[in-house]
Amino acid sequence: MTINDFLQYKKEQKKISMVTCYDFSSAKIVEQSQIHCILVGDSVAMVIHGHESTIAADMPMMIAHTTAVRRGYSGFIVGDMPFLSYRLTTEEALSSMGALLKAGANAVKVEGARGNLDIISRATESGIPVMGHLGLTPQSINSLGGYKVQGKSSTEQEQLLEEAISLEKAGCFALVLECVPTSLGKRVSEELTIPVIGIGAGSNVDGQVLVFHDLLGLSSGHEPRFVRKFSNVGQPTLTGLDSFHSAVQSGDYPSPQESYQ
Ligand code: KIV
Repeated sequence: MTINDFLQYKKEQKKISMVTCYDFSSAKIVEQSQIHCILVGDSVAMVIHGHESTIAADMPMMIAHTTAVRRGYSGFIVGDMPFLSYRLTTEEALSSMGALLKAGANAVKVEGARGNLDIISRATESGIPVMGHLGLTPQSINSLGGYKVQGKSSTEQEQLLEEAISLEKAGCFALVLECVPTSLGKRVSEELTIPVIGIGAGSNVDGQVLVFHDLLGLSSGHEPRFVRKFSNVGQPTLTGLDSFHSAVQSGDYPSPQESYQ
């Protein structure tokens, strides 16, 4: 997939599939799949590093994981810009975005519209494609007061729609829309020319993104309603680990064939 396919897929009503990915081995598996593109999400801070929120992600973390994913994946990678990295000076924001592209990303993602429109324009004019992200924006968890469905009231819906249009005008090539009512997902998708990739935004959008570990059943703890386990890799992984342990205890492993004579 290339940047041009995002618009083309929307025109052809072909749904975009996107998955988060954080490491080389997983990237090699995604490479063999039919998934269209990868997001190296700042959810890496929670899923891989065990932090409580994505606020802990920083540029060195995002660069390290983007570099690892690029080593195992030849397709389109979106790198997430971490908390505040695009909110300080224009110079710092552009330099951080450039660092993600140098690490192997094809585009960057920023959360929210207010206060971001100028940097999105500057970035797109400078050859850095930008994906927007509205609805539940996890970097603003302290302002939102929790991981809740957004855009429930008509005032919030109008505001979100306005913000989505402003992101498209600023130059975003696609928009992630997280945790909003299905009707709002549909409306935003219909109003925008660029594709809307939903996560908890219902089925009337132009694509879907899920966290790798969530969709494979590798996550533990609270699962939002929109998560579907398309397989349950966690259970056989546990069984494999326990089998190794038992074989070590019983002396069954390693066998002579697994040893150097
Ligand atoms: O960081 C992430 O995983 C994301 C997705 C939830 C869209 O931003």
